[in-house]
Amino acid sequence: MPAETQKTEQKQPQPGEKAVAAMFGRIVRWYDPLNRLLSLGLDQGWRAVLAQTALAGFENTADLRALDLAAGTLDVSLALHARRPDAHITAMDFCQPMLERGRAKLKTPALQAAISTATADARALPLPDASFHTVTMAFGIRNIAPRIKAMREMHRVLMPGGRACILEFGSGRQRIWKGVYNFYLDSILPLMGKFFSGDSAYAYLARTIREFPTADELADELLEAGFGSVYHLPLTSGIVRLHVAEKRAE
Ligand SMILES: C[S@@+](CC[C@H](N)C(=O)[O-])C[C@H]1O[C@@H](n2cnc3c(N)ncnc32)[C@H](O)[C@@H]1O
Repeated sequence: MPAETQKTEQKQPQPGEKAVAAMFGRIVRWYDPLNRLLSLGLDQGWRAVLAQTALAGFENTADLRALDLAAGTLDVSLALHARRPDAHITAMDFCQPMLERGRAKLKTPALQAAISTATADARALPLPDASFHTVTMAFGIRNIAPRIKAMREMHRVLMPGGRACILEFGSGRQRIWKGVYNFYLDSILPLMGKFFSGDSAYAYLARTIREFPTADELADELLEAGFGSVYHLPLTSGIVRLHVAEKRAE
């Protein structure tokens, strides 16, 4: 039996939302620098592709409204703002310390006017139906159970013809770079994360990447959530994938 198959059979239960929020609260100080270090500097490029894809086709849309879910320390919101300074960006996350860290990056009046933040669970958004042109979520969906609830909420708050863009690690069950990436994920990343942050959150990161579904499984869930068409783009040999789901135009 291949090693990857054995790992999926030992799947552990997903921690509840309080445990997930508390975990991000513990590592908040380390979150941005470790993102840069552990992704070998690639993470901001992935977010740039996400922002570009989320905004594509809305170049002439006035009063553009974007929702950044599981927004954390606001790197995606900032990437959206860099491309569309006129867009109204709402950033939501259920971990208050992550959002506070992000708010400290809103240093100019223009940034403060464009990006508003609120604490909310992506599975139950305090937002009206059909109120956003585009929704983003980077490295959030892996932490959410059940995922379909968040996908249904994304679909509900999007206007007809709107788009949800979900950036997430690919399933770690897939061998990448002849297994070099998988070795990094399973053995090096948790050790480095523990060394710098003193927390086991990075072992959780490696485990949830290993257990994450394939792009096709995720596409089926997005269709089940109501989206009309779904596709995905592999980034960096599929280490990360951008899942794009369009809501039907009326
Ligand atoms: C890995 S961080 C990603 C942050 C940011 N999007 C980025 O690109 O760096 C995951 C974030 O998802 C948030 N999160 C997890 N489950 C959530 C949920 N059900 N509702 C809202 N936020 C959630 C966590 O609090 C955390 O800030």
